[in-house]
Amino acid sequence: MPTPATYSRTQIVLHWLTVLLILAQFTLNDAIGAAWRAFRTGTEAAADPLVAAHVFGGIAILVFALWRLVLRATHGVPPAQGSAWSVRAANWGHVAIYAALILVAISGGAAWFGGIEAAAEAHEVLKTILLVLVIGHVAMALWHQFVLRDGTLARMR
Ligand code: HEM
Ligand code: HEM
Repeated sequence: MPTPATYSRTQIVLHWLTVLLILAQFTLNDAIGAAWRAFRTGTEAAADPLVAAHVFGGIAILVFALWRLVLRATHGVPPAQGSAWSVRAANWGHVAIYAALILVAISGGAAWFGGIEAAAEAHEVLKTILLVLVIGHVAMALWHQFVLRDGTLARMR
């Protein structure tokens, strides 16, 4: 894998677009929850554009994650900074976030398009795992910025 000095512009834009989409997925999910309950109980759900927004927002997150994995392999990512231990932790942390992004989207898709109850349950568990990983990730980004002051945040700007 190549080791460039910086993230590419595309990698940075995709990172922050994903952040915005994740925020929307976590805050505007009442409509898809209601539509899913209606589907399960065989009742009529009120038409709501936020249902499609959750589905397409989730698909966009999936596409962006796969795209970013391709960019990791082709363009590479700047080497993580710090001790060998913390570099390994950062790399595995990032891999775990990619895995969670992909699995949350796939489980949601399997529930919605396949009508699979177990997939909806997995979606709920996985979204919590993603949330925990993201909270840890943001905490580490802030730790690097304000305690270690090693310019890590500037790499994603
Ligand atoms: C990574 C992207 C995604 C995130 C972060 C996400 C997040 C969420 C969250 C936070 C909920 C609310 C769960 C709750 O009420 O406890 C939810 C529900 C739901 N999502 Fe997603 N979602 C994503 C992608 C998708 C996709 C792509 C689909 C369908 C194509 C989908 C379908 C659903 C369905 C059907 C529900 C209702 C399930 C239920 O309430 O049990 N999601 N999602
Ligand atoms: C939904 C929220 C977020 C997700 C899913 C996410 C995901 C990711 C992923 C997967 C990477 C690794 C990129 C790669 O090497 O391929 C990354 C890097 C990074 N993220 Fe986030 N991120 C989120 C929010 C944030 C926030 C809020 C900040 C700033 C406070 C931030 C700062 C950074 C920084 C500085 C890097 C580069 C780390 C390095 O160079 O080693 N992220 N993010």
